Amino acid sequence: MLTPVLSAHWDEADAFTLEGYARHRGYEALTKALKTDPDALIQLVKDSGLRGRGGAGFPTGMKWGFIPQGPEGQGGKPHYLVVNADESEPGTCKDVPFMLANPHALLEGVIIASYAIRASHAFIYVRGEVTHVVRRLHDAVEQARAAGHLGKDIHGSGFDLEVVVHAGAGAYICGEETALLDSLEGYRGQPRLRPPFPATHGLYACPTVVNNVESIASVPSIVLGGAEWFASMGTEKSKGYTLYSLSGHVKKPGQYEAPLGITLRQLLDLSGGMRDGRTLKFWTPGGSSTPLLTADHLDVPLDYEGVTAAGSMLGTKALQCFDDTTCVVRAILRWTEFYAHESCGKCTPCREGTYWMVQILQRLEAGTGTEEDIATLLDTCDNIFGRAFCALGDGATSPIVSGVQLFRDEFLQHVSGGCPFDPVASTVFGAVTA
Ligand SMILES: Cc1cc2nc3c(=O)[nH]c(=O)nc-3n(C[C@H](O)[C@H](O)[C@H](O)COP(=O)(O)O)c2cc1C
Ligand code: SF4
Repeated sequence: MLTPVLSAHWDEADAFTLEGYARHRGYEALTKALKTDPDALIQLVKDSGLRGRGGAGFPTGMKWGFIPQGPEGQGGKPHYLVVNADESEPGTCKDVPFMLANPHALLEGVIIASYAIRASHAFIYVRGEVTHVVRRLHDAVEQARAAGHLGKDIHGSGFDLEVVVHAGAGAYICGEETALLDSLEGYRGQPRLRPPFPATHGLYACPTVVNNVESIASVPSIVLGGAEWFASMGTEKSKGYTLYSLSGHVKKPGQYEAPLGITLRQLLDLSGGMRDGRTLKFWTPGGSSTPLLTADHLDVPLDYEGVTAAGSMLGTKALQCFDDTTCVVRAILRWTEFYAHESCGKCTPCREGTYWMVQILQRLEAGTGTEEDIATLLDTCDNIFGRAFCALGDGATSPIVSGVQLFRDEFLQHVSGGCPFDPVASTVFGAVTA
């Protein structure tokens, strides 16, 4: 049921070194790719059905194909590859352990992708707080350069590539691809108006591909295994294997690499289930910006179509599981505090709305709210969703709208008699601060 590819060798002590990676056919895909026509590589990734693992699930090969190819494209402007390694959404925790355990798979993917889109500069924009990962990436770049996988005339192919590892300063919004590009250029990280899109006007207004770590790291295996092999896993429109991050009140949290379309029930079976004597109350399929689901959704196929049909989104496949000791109002308050803190302030609905939603949720959680507060909360969400400048605003409304929909009675209980949960037993979010 599990299909470890990216995570196959994480338990080997030297998995992160060049030698450890080379032992498992590391950089063989690069040798093969450099003998292939760049357009054929783009076609290969299109044929594999790989979809972006950063949340939206956009087809990776199609994104690469949007880059104007050839020297005459865009008046001969340089092309750039930017890897989005900013991972900061609550619950999302796959890219950081991946880069720590297997940085060379990412680098090999970066080199192949850059060759395919004809870029001679690539950037890895990594979350600055994870200094151990930043150091590991720097080391991997140096090792790859010393081995001739980076720099001038890679493997004698005539292809040149420089890779820059850039540490961000710890802002969730800098994971949004256009805010990331502004930040990388040295500006304050705030989203850009689109169009124009990064494919034509990205970094320094040049054609740019922005891809998630996992998307790019999946490329070497596709080059070696072939599009058919990759597409043999997963479901009709969601192909391949992927990392599911299980966290919360489960017995064995961690990364579970499986074909797209596996269910939470199957993943819980593999991870020993919920903690003893407890039952699943609610969960997120893809991080805190994806609408909550419940035990009724245990058999939903965890692919893009299945989760959408169930009323949520697959997002980053961050499965945060909460058991019956958890106060849903408190959990939603914590997430909303995060969004209010991380709102970049560029647009009014998100900047003001997230602030007011925290005030209301604090009242409700403390047992001093009213039924009208619940209506105001939903009304505020209505004024953010679809009216905010970027997807952070929409995401902030997801836990609230779905939470009230699924647990209205629990919200009403807070209004009539205060929080019915023991604040100590409800441990996932720590002590009450309201
Ligand atoms: C607020 C916000 C934060 C995001 N954070 C990340 C992130 O940390 N990593 C990531 O890959 N994508 C993140 N995204 C999605 C990116 O904008 C973009 O869709 C993604 O990097 C594209 O890569 P992919 O096509 O390989 O999935 C974020 C989006 C938003 C709105
Ligand atoms: S939605 Fe929020 S994060 Fe996005 S631009 Fe507006 S204020 Fe900034």
